[in-house]
Amino acid sequence: MNSSGLKDIIAVNSNLSFIDGELGKLLYRGIDVKDLVHKSTFEESIYLLWYGKLPKKDELQTFTLELCKERPIHNKILDNIKNIPCEASTISILKSIIPTLPLFEPVNDDPIKQGVKLVSKIPTIVAAIYRVKNKKEIIQPHKDLSYAENFVYMLKGKYEDIEAKAIETDFILHLDHELNASTFAARTTASTLSDLNSAISTGVNTLKGPLHGGASEDVIKMIMDIECEEKTEEYITKKLHERQKIPGFGHRVYKTIDPRAAILKSIAIELCEKTNNKQIFNIQEKIEAIMKQQKRIYPNVDYYSATIYYSMKIDIELYIPIFVIGRMAGWVGHVLEQYDNNKLIRPRARYTGFKERKYTPMNQR
Ligand code: COA
Repeated sequence: MNSSGLKDIIAVNSNLSFIDGELGKLLYRGIDVKDLVHKSTFEESIYLLWYGKLPKKDELQTFTLELCKERPIHNKILDNIKNIPCEASTISILKSIIPTLPLFEPVNDDPIKQGVKLVSKIPTIVAAIYRVKNKKEIIQPHKDLSYAENFVYMLKGKYEDIEAKAIETDFILHLDHELNASTFAARTTASTLSDLNSAISTGVNTLKGPLHGGASEDVIKMIMDIECEEKTEEYITKKLHERQKIPGFGHRVYKTIDPRAAILKSIAIELCEKTNNKQIFNIQEKIEAIMKQQKRIYPNVDYYSATIYYSMKIDIELYIPIFVIGRMAGWVGHVLEQYDNNKLIRPRARYTGFKERKYTPMNQR
């Protein structure tokens, strides 16, 4: 059998997350993400994903404390960030810094403890890159704030509750998504028994492409290009006619609206109204209606997360890094699962090249 893009191929067994593509459902360890965004926190959702159960009060307190303690990053990493040319994009700087972390931060042999380090330090690194690039002073992590509050605080120096809640929801919804391209790539690296950090680096490099985590950047660029509601129909119809992809739409698994997009949409409208960006939201709703009518294709997670970031005045270059922050603990969970029951991931390719040929000497070619 040859399935282009490994569509519908089962490559690994996993207990972490379940997608029902027909009904538009996403569960982490059996619990609906809709419940998690309303009743849980990002820290608790990570615990659930890694340990397979909701934590008791003291377990969550200990886990949250461990995450808080690991937030600061080594001065040498900060120096490296300061020395990278500012013109490089934030995601390029991030993906070059991540592989260097074990050089400056002692690696913990326990992969969960190492996972805690990575998950805790990534927001600090992303915020530092942003501040340095924009010639602003770096803000040290705040030990008394939640994971999401602390990230917004390190970016902006302050945060509003509605912003921190929006980012927390966004992180929970990006946490894990079965065997998406970056998770598969991370698991493949782990399956060679390479270390956690290397597997995570593979994940980041795979996530940044426009067909995966890079789509949210393109969503906002498209909306800026459209400019106003009146031009939307003509713009989208032309693109579809030219067989171009509309960013933020379509999914390999969902055949209906991505449940994450539905949740993010309700937050996007609230933030857009509050920040006088209703025009952006209106254009988006119009595109959604056109895509449904003309293609029966629905928004994915990147579509309304882009509006949330935009209305929070978050720099467009941070959109992919924010996806990285949310997905980091998901990659860690999958790598741990891979190590637990490892089998080298090594598929075959169907050979479609020449049959055996004779070697032609140079003077006869
Ligand atoms: N805009 C327009 N048409 C789209 C589309 C989109 N965003 N996504 C899929 N389609 C169409 C394709 O043109 C194709 O049509 P065809 O059969 O007439 O040729 C069909 O739907 C299947 O698309 P395909 O790209 O083969 O599906 P896939 O499962 O390989 O790809 C994505 C899934 C996510 C890569 C794809 O939907 C896409 O490129 N989306 C835009 C980028 C994006 O938002 N990525 C973030 C994903 S979370």
